[in-house]
Amino acid sequence: MAFLDKHAILEKSPTLLLVASLLVVTVGGIVEIAPLFWLENTIEKVEGVRPYSPLELTGRDIYVREGCYVCHSQMIRPMRDEVERYGHYSLAAESMYDHPHQWGSKRTGPDIARVGGRYSDAWHVDHLSDPQSVVPESIMPKYAFLADTPLKSDYIQALLRTHRFVGVPYSDEMIELAPADLRAQADPDSDVDGVLERYPGAAVANFDGQPGLTEMDALIAYLQVLGTMVDFSTFTPDASR
Ligand code: HEC
Repeated sequence: MAFLDKHAILEKSPTLLLVASLLVVTVGGIVEIAPLFWLENTIEKVEGVRPYSPLELTGRDIYVREGCYVCHSQMIRPMRDEVERYGHYSLAAESMYDHPHQWGSKRTGPDIARVGGRYSDAWHVDHLSDPQSVVPESIMPKYAFLADTPLKSDYIQALLRTHRFVGVPYSDEMIELAPADLRAQADPDSDVDGVLERYPGAAVANFDGQPGLTEMDALIAYLQVLGTMVDFSTFTPDASR
């Protein structure tokens, strides 16, 4: 065929082939990537997804600091075995306020994208302090020191401001009230209405069960919100996208 004969010219000249391949890849790349810059939003907005509360956000920092992500992914893939084991597959919107995201592919322990609400706070205290006391064959390290470490939170406003800088919609009010909100969420006897108004559905509790605010409080507040923001009994994927 005449067309294929001409193709031989390309195949016999490495330089020509290289230039032509680059051209093809460039066009393909532009077609795929360029529209993303003009789309208002590449992530489908899903009802219920909100920025983390100040206490949850500090807990998330501790999660990252302790390297929990080394053993735990936070992304349920849309495969049947995963969905049956962990729950509804993860939506992009559920990690839209995660900077950086905690998806991961290494699962020495189970995926914990939907661990929120699955266990009581007391279970988490026991499990984090001494995993083998709850799951004898567990190889998870002990994190008992978290319950003895007072939560350092003097940087909470700067933390929220930093997240706002990268696109999380924290309002001026949220930033101003962050130190108070952080304390109130771990103290059910305090005035928690403001916290719940700003962060609907946040769990309010004395998470570690002891007086004072510790890193254990913050980490458990974070674990308890994971995967709970979207109500999957009413959620329907937007098929028009
Ligand atoms: C060396 C790997 C390893 C590290 C690091 C690790 N874990 Fe685990 N984790 C496991 C394993 C294995 C299990 C399953 C057995 C068990 O429940 O202890 C587990 C279970 C869990 C569970 C229960 C999940 C479920 O659905 O039953 C939670 C919650 C959890 N880990 C949180 C954490 C947090 C928070 C950190 C960091 C402070 C952490 N893990 C660090 C290995 C690890």
